[in-house]
Amino acid sequence: MRIFSGIQPTGELHIGNYLGAIKQWNSLQHQNNCIFCIVDLHAITVPYDTEKLSNLILEKAVIYLAAGIDPEKAIIFVQSHVKAHTELCWLLNTITPLGDLYRMTQYKEKSQKGKKNENAGLLNYPILMAADILLYDADIVPVGEDQKQHVELARSIARKFNSKFGETFTLPKEQLPTEGARIMSITNPKKKMSKSDPEASYISLFDSPEAIKKKIKSAVTDTYKTIKYDKEKRPGISNLLTIYSLFSEIEVKEVEKEMKGKSYKKFKDELAELMIIKLAPFRKRREEFLSREVYVKEILKQGQDAANSLAESKISEVKRKMGLI
Ligand code: AMP
Ligand code: TRP
Repeated sequence: MRIFSGIQPTGELHIGNYLGAIKQWNSLQHQNNCIFCIVDLHAITVPYDTEKLSNLILEKAVIYLAAGIDPEKAIIFVQSHVKAHTELCWLLNTITPLGDLYRMTQYKEKSQKGKKNENAGLLNYPILMAADILLYDADIVPVGEDQKQHVELARSIARKFNSKFGETFTLPKEQLPTEGARIMSITNPKKKMSKSDPEASYISLFDSPEAIKKKIKSAVTDTYKTIKYDKEKRPGISNLLTIYSLFSEIEVKEVEKEMKGKSYKKFKDELAELMIIKLAPFRKRREEFLSREVYVKEILKQGQDAANSLAESKISEVKRKMGLI
């Protein structure tokens, strides 16, 4: 199977990104043709710091490597290094109904954050994402729940293109993790964990042990006293149970049994300890790769070449089908 996924370079990577997306990438890379992209062109649809962007892009590559993505098994590259993404985006623009773009949840949320955020790129964001996916004929797109709607739109654009211009694109399918597709904020468990929210609300993959303890200690729970999963009535404790379960690889039901009779404080202490142990290798590997910039750039160059040759052959086919010479 061909797998494609991507993460934006801006903002810190948090455990939601890991449990929702990268953890799946890790296991998928062994038996599939995987392509993992740093989607810098998506990141510039919201205000950002030009001085910092290039470092953030490199840092994300470091993070992919630190999180276990193996450049021998998967292609790792930067979106803006392969021109065909923007080219295909334009071509797909011409067949995408505006109504489909206006109803995207992410667009609605981001554009509501203030008039100055409303640019055409923000609206057309899902078309660029469709171009990313369709260029490589990806069968599967492993993402967290918030991106499901965008992958569905990519599928619908592919279907439309195929029926208008002839069979060209593979119809992609999103793959959500069975658990962890939507890790919630620890300060407001009714909202998804997001890197654009204040730091106390998310746990970075690279938080220090002290920071992890502090954040978990102040995680919002409820006034019940038992450790039981109930997403509707008790979103805070349920989110913490999910996180515990995913890091320990023990089912939620079993965790409930293990924690029976324990106080919230005790449970939180154990959760913090578990996360500190599980996240330690990421911190260590990140430090290692950060000091190997030449190597990381070389990986990205190889990724660019590999992605480019696949993308160029696809874009030629698309242009031919569309009658462009
Ligand atoms: P982003 O940080 O928006 O570039 O997202 C990168 C990947 O992480 C995407 O596949 C998202 O669906 C996933 N993701 C982001 N936030 C969460 C969350 N709170 N829970 C689970 N997955 C998430
Ligand atoms: N929009 C995705 C997000 O914010 C990132 C992304 C861009 C992506 N292109 C993609 C994810 C293609 C999967 C496939 O998380």
